[in-house]
Amino acid sequence: MPTANLSQSAVIIGAAVPRIDGPLKTTGTARYSLDHDFPNLAHAVAVQSTIGKGRIRKLDVSAAERMPGVLLVLHHGNLENVYRTFQRAQDGSMAETRPPFEDDTIYYWGQYIAAVVAETLEQANAAAGAIRVEYDVEAPDLRPDLSEGFTGTRESSWKRGNPDQALSAAPVAIDETYVTPVETHNPMEMHGTVAVWDGDNVTLYDSSQGVVGHRTVMSEVLGVPRENVRTISRFIGSGFGGKLSPWPQATLAAAAARQLKRPVKLSVDRRMMFCNVGHRPHTQQRIQLGATHDGKLTAIRHDFFSETSLLDNFVEHCGEQTPFLYSCPNLEVTTAMARRGVGTPAPMRGPGAVPGLFALESAMDELAIKLNMDPLELRLKNDAERDEGTNKPFSSRHLKECFTTGAEKIGWKHRTPQPGSMRREGKIIGLGLGGASWGAARIPATASVELCANGRICVRCATQDIGTGTYTIFAQVIHAKTGVPLDRIDVFLGDTTLPDGPTSGGSMVTSAILPAATSAVDSAVMRLLNVATLTPGSPFYGMKTEALHVANGRVHARQEIAGVKGVALHSDDVPAAHPPADGVPFAELINLARISSITATGHTTPSWEDPKAQPYSMHSFGAHFAEVEWEPEIARLRVSRIVSVFDCGRIINQKAGANQILGAAVMGLGMTLLEEKRYEQRTGQPINGSFADYQVATCADHPDLDVTFLDYPDLLVNEYGARGIGEIGMAGVAPAITSAVYNATGVRVRQLPVRIEDLLQSTIVEV
Ligand code: MOS
Repeated sequence: MPTANLSQSAVIIGAAVPRIDGPLKTTGTARYSLDHDFPNLAHAVAVQSTIGKGRIRKLDVSAAERMPGVLLVLHHGNLENVYRTFQRAQDGSMAETRPPFEDDTIYYWGQYIAAVVAETLEQANAAAGAIRVEYDVEAPDLRPDLSEGFTGTRESSWKRGNPDQALSAAPVAIDETYVTPVETHNPMEMHGTVAVWDGDNVTLYDSSQGVVGHRTVMSEVLGVPRENVRTISRFIGSGFGGKLSPWPQATLAAAAARQLKRPVKLSVDRRMMFCNVGHRPHTQQRIQLGATHDGKLTAIRHDFFSETSLLDNFVEHCGEQTPFLYSCPNLEVTTAMARRGVGTPAPMRGPGAVPGLFALESAMDELAIKLNMDPLELRLKNDAERDEGTNKPFSSRHLKECFTTGAEKIGWKHRTPQPGSMRREGKIIGLGLGGASWGAARIPATASVELCANGRICVRCATQDIGTGTYTIFAQVIHAKTGVPLDRIDVFLGDTTLPDGPTSGGSMVTSAILPAATSAVDSAVMRLLNVATLTPGSPFYGMKTEALHVANGRVHARQEIAGVKGVALHSDDVPAAHPPADGVPFAELINLARISSITATGHTTPSWEDPKAQPYSMHSFGAHFAEVEWEPEIARLRVSRIVSVFDCGRIINQKAGANQILGAAVMGLGMTLLEEKRYEQRTGQPINGSFADYQVATCADHPDLDVTFLDYPDLLVNEYGARGIGEIGMAGVAPAITSAVYNATGVRVRQLPVRIEDLLQSTIVEV
């Protein structure tokens, strides 16, 4: 239950409130899933296949079973009572739908083939190394061209007008293919599960982005009623989408614990993070754009392949933003899945949009060059006034202002389009830009608020804080409504015994919890006012509740306040007419009434059931501007600046919000210049499946970052007007950087990441 201090006088909604859970994390007090220890805890280690495709001919576990401390070796022959899940949109399913060890077939390198459980981790590791496997080996299909061997069906996802006719008639056209590689999530906290059975009930400590969905899925997998499963995930070292659904290690830990009647811990190590818990799939996207000579788009075709595994149908929806980002009468987006011998992919920060907008925005940049037009002007000229994909008006769209504000901040007017034409301090400078968008919606949520007799307020919701600031957002809302200081607000999240809350996915938690939290606290306050007027001995006894209100954590009589009319929306709105000593502390009234506490529950109704929201297309927008420095003599490229301007509705917490965009910009930089998981083509083994070899952007790589929020409330989403912010910041970074790279070097990189070999093609060889 994180708590913290903040001056109550601040206007808290929109303020840069530090994380209330920050001290718990920085002092090591926060307990992550694998920090949970129990008497008699046994340790499991998963064993991975060392081939990429084939069959297990013989699995010899006899030596392992005889080793010291070994309690159980699970495998295809003895894993009991685990089931497949039913794929449902609401409750989710296992991320890899095949239960572990279901058959003796190997679908990808690193697939779990056994799990050893022992008294200690060392004993389990040693025994895992003693398992002998014989395989019938086949060659995995890892062909790098996703169009090769394609036998599936290509689906038309969006269509309007006649794009093919418009393309052939277009005076200016672009037809290019853009490729993004496999990228891995690699959050700081790795996946892992501690499973504890108590009779027929099981508690799962799992690093999860959605405890409610996790519980439902695990109840199906284990074949036990939902009410017998409790999932706990109180602190999470991020997930980036890799923890949206449970992975097989949860099944193995729970099944082993059930079979042994002992608590079992199973941790996914960093090497396994590259095999067994998803990745952003490889994409290959052909973009065709048609335009008039003066730069009006006449046609867009976006035909893409998205890689998936042999086991599951996963699609990276690269074309989701294409129908509405720009105005264009003729358009088609088509989707195709290409099967390869890899593990099942998963959503990763900005799924679809991030690779999709790399392609679309790169093509826009190339079109601008072909038109001899400023790429900023091309964006402004083709801005969409309504969502032409769904034919609905936008609830709130300020993409143009994102572009113009960012241009102003980075000094776009000084940019010259000729590659290599800008110099500074012995380096060549390039400038580029990229647009971003991400959907918004209000998903269902329930939260409860308890006004306690000890003067504290407890908020409860079975959502979770994956590091984005959800604990703090709840506390801000309660403070805004009651004036109770943050250090007297306790927020409980990440436990399925709490009221059902949303999965931390799709950047939708903040917009989902705000209505539930505000209605819960409003109802609790209303009950408090009833108690104040109905309790004999209360100074407000016999008064009407309308005559009272709550501020500074106290109940006040309204008529005492000169000049304040009507109901104040937030306590912040109440002028300083209240010296803090005025009124009666809420806890005094609760004690006077001799009740233990006052609790109320609030719900968020989903936007798709809201007649006011239904007619609108709801999205966030943004733009990144990148500056690169190129030193051709030593082939050194650095991203020196990223200016980001975002339209994500009203920002509830400037600090947490800006941190999301900053982190996403750095992650986008890593995507552009560093990240690529490579497989050994004959075996399917990840070649760079470790942090020694797989590069991510670090502090040493990060440029000068500058984030601006336009802060226009989108009141159709919730009363504060907040939309989501977690994923959008990663969209648009890659095309901004590759456009800047072109501006500096004259080299167009269409296949990420940008390699030195690409840059060596530059004909600009000296400064
Ligand atoms: Mo996000 S990829 O829905 O965690």
